[in-house]
Amino acid sequence: TIRSRLVGTGSYLPEKCLTNAELATLVDTTDEWIVQRTGIKCRHIAAEGEFTSDLAVKAAERALAAAGIEASAVDCIVLATTTPDRTFPATAAIVQQRLGITQGFALDVQAVCAGFIYALSVADNFIRSGQAKTALVIGAETFTRLLDWTDRGTCVLFGDGAGAVVLQASEGSGSTEDRGILTTHLHSDGRYNDILYVDGGPSSTKTVGHVRMEGREVFRHAVVNLAAVVDEALSAVNLPIEAVDWLVPHQANLRIIEGTGKKLGIAPEKVVATVDHHANTSAASIPLALDEAVRDGRIKPGHMVLMEAIGGGLAWGSALARI
Ligand code: ACO
Repeated sequence: TIRSRLVGTGSYLPEKCLTNAELATLVDTTDEWIVQRTGIKCRHIAAEGEFTSDLAVKAAERALAAAGIEASAVDCIVLATTTPDRTFPATAAIVQQRLGITQGFALDVQAVCAGFIYALSVADNFIRSGQAKTALVIGAETFTRLLDWTDRGTCVLFGDGAGAVVLQASEGSGSTEDRGILTTHLHSDGRYNDILYVDGGPSSTKTVGHVRMEGREVFRHAVVNLAAVVDEALSAVNLPIEAVDWLVPHQANLRIIEGTGKKLGIAPEKVVATVDHHANTSAASIPLALDEAVRDGRIKPGHMVLMEAIGGGLAWGSALARI
């Protein structure tokens, strides 16, 4: 059995950090409201002239360094983003050029907050089918560029950043003891495309547009769908929730994270939460959280890590991997 092993992680956050107190000078909100409803205390904001590809390249370089792999070995780049540098070409192609990679192929994946799970699944399928050997999977966003800074219901929730993982093909026995991605599951339900969307785009308005969201509706779908997709992942490999060492969820909101953890019956100390200092970085949130927990020594080689996310589409999914 070919497995996609996670051989390195990296991440990058823009320098500028915007606190709730600073936000309260821009819109009618308070630190107390934001912390109580979301758990968010601050978020990073990309500098003027700092693009999604800039964040992605830095995260990718750190992941390659951690893996001890030269960029020239990479034959596949899958980049999840909702905030590409340009309408086209793919931001992945810009990253490929910036890393000096001239072989293989590079593509973007658009699944908003579920983007990293989608990208990981796409890359895993390329590796398992033999079409790629060494893949760079990146989630990168300058999501704050999509915000309506007069809408307090959305502008307090998001931040910018990037995270990356290097995947390498390796031979496994086919058991759940193998290191690497064990299973991924993707879902979408376009009937809900209008509860979370951006009101612009090249085909409709020729503008970029701003994020619009029915927060309560999204919340309701999130907890139900995330718990279901985790159950699906565990039953696919016949493992109980106790086999999971770390849950690394999409970081949208602490209440969604805690609600899902509770529904699944996983101990809170096994859940990686970074939403307090990163806010919701969309496709970047899982690889940012993963990298933080790998670097601070929580996630160790051999640990079983379960990742899950949901976002606009609605699109959601999970990935189960032994690190
Ligand atoms: N500061 C102060 N008051 C606010 C703010 C704010 N930033 N935003 C909204 N309010 C007010 C509203 O105007 C409303 O006032 P009203 O009662 O006088 O009308 C009141 O707070 C309650 O608003 P609700 O939207 O009902 O608040 P709710 O408890 O649902 O919390 C929130 C809002 C935090 C957005 C919540 O619905 C949520 O977390 N939803 C999930 C959405 C999410 O995480 N989306 C991220 C993208 S999708 C994803 O990644 C999963």
